Amino acid sequence: MTIIDGKKISSDIKQELKNSVEACRQKVNAVPGLAVIIVGEDPASQVYVRNKAKSCKEIGMNSKVIELPAETSQEELLSRIESLNNDPEVHGILVQQPLPSHIDEYAVTMAISPAKDVDGFHPENVGQMVLGNLDNCYISCTPYGILELLARYNIETKGKHCVVIGRSNIVGKPMANLMLQKLRETNCTVTVCHSATQNMPELTRQADILIAAIGRAHLITKEMVKPGAVIIDVGMNRIEDASRKSGYRLVGDVDYEPVSKIASAITPVPGGVGPMTIAMLLKNTFQSFMQAQGSADSL
Ligand code: GUN
Repeated sequence: MTIIDGKKISSDIKQELKNSVEACRQKVNAVPGLAVIIVGEDPASQVYVRNKAKSCKEIGMNSKVIELPAETSQEELLSRIESLNNDPEVHGILVQQPLPSHIDEYAVTMAISPAKDVDGFHPENVGQMVLGNLDNCYISCTPYGILELLARYNIETKGKHCVVIGRSNIVGKPMANLMLQKLRETNCTVTVCHSATQNMPELTRQADILIAAIGRAHLITKEMVKPGAVIIDVGMNRIEDASRKSGYRLVGDVDYEPVSKIASAITPVPGGVGPMTIAMLLKNTFQSFMQAQGSADSL
């Protein structure tokens, strides 16, 4: 059984990017820049945003964190995005979700220039991704990170049955689409399960590759998994744990211990999919920078 080490792969990708960023600095005397906007004081979002800025610094990229109060108007937020769209030193723009309820997330997504939409949320990027033009778009970071894990662990996907659980715009929908693509050799048969699916265990037991992105602790039990399956756990659920100083610990959507005994490969939580999201955000920002430099070269 293989434990898929997202921490290690993410660190490899960051090292590769660090080398590329340094090469750019020497060659064109410029480096990529990421702008992150956070509205309000959600503690989990604050941690994510801090980590994004820290990772930029680690690899020599510029980052700018714009912290706005929870009562910021939509108009003000859109005007901040417009300035970043026009700032040549900013190559990637990310507005941390969730946003306060008075702000329309769709309007925010639409306001970000598709060329700087390193989250891959803009319909132009989503559309290109669905069409299979993967070199012509930004792919949403978590699904992109999962593709990278599968590729770097040489996990065969062609012709396999992939079951995705969850249909969010950020993970489930793009993931299912990517696993379906003929390009980049994912080439799976794909089933998507969600909250209204009636026979979920019957479907999950057919999965050669099972991707759980529902946000419910330990929903996927051993009985729902085919022996030998590859298990990708996107869940990050807080459960109470009195033995921890924080009073909680993070668990995935998969009941890890029993499932890991029958899987052929599995991502742990933490240390599996999570660290890949930031690595792919940096990779997308680097891609945007390269395009801005007028080079189609990727890494
Ligand atoms: N909140 C949780 N994950 C994400 C993400 O990938 N992008 C943004 N913008 N917000 C998030």
